[in-house]
Amino acid sequence: MSEHIRVLLSEEEVDARIQAIGEQISRDYAGKQVHLICVLKGGSFFLCELAKRITVPVSLDFMAVSSYGSGTQSGGVVKIIKDLDDPVKDKDVIVVEDIVDSGRTLSYLLEMLWGRGPRSLHLCTLLDKPDRRVVDVNVDYTGFQIPDEFVVGYGLDYDQRYRNLPYIGVVEFD
Ligand code: IMP
Ligand code: MG
Repeated sequence: MSEHIRVLLSEEEVDARIQAIGEQISRDYAGKQVHLICVLKGGSFFLCELAKRITVPVSLDFMAVSSYGSGTQSGGVVKIIKDLDDPVKDKDVIVVEDIVDSGRTLSYLLEMLWGRGPRSLHLCTLLDKPDRRVVDVNVDYTGFQIPDEFVVGYGLDYDQRYRNLPYIGVVEFD
């Protein structure tokens, strides 16, 4: 079976939205240092673009979790593959994600991070599929709400491919 990619959000649209979120975060965190936590691998492209547009001091950390197998369906199981390097205690943390889908990954992660005593903890996601939510998650910064379609690009993969696309596209099977 072959597949092709239909553009859903162009590179220009995504970049403009990230610029706006960066400005918003810079205003909201004026006078503070923000500690960005990237959820690998999908969040990495968004994190880099977002961090460049934040004008308050920024520090970064990375973690990797897995909630999906190699296809397009959720396994519903969250596993920490790589934990953070640094403590989050007393830091103003923003978790940077590629997409909130069922919400399982983020609700698990946020609860775990709260237990480590950050001063504040917020969530920033490039994409949100609200129709797919199974577990309630409070999203503070959203790039785009999108319909229930499987998307790739800007860090998001289908079987580890397409992460490097500079736009968001829908995988369509021929
Ligand atoms: P959740 O736990 O169901 O919210 O899913 C979280 C993770 O599933 C995301 O961080 C992605 O890695 C993956 N995911 C969910 N929807 C998509 C999609 O449309 N394309 C690619 N990955 C997705
Ligand atoms: Mg992800």
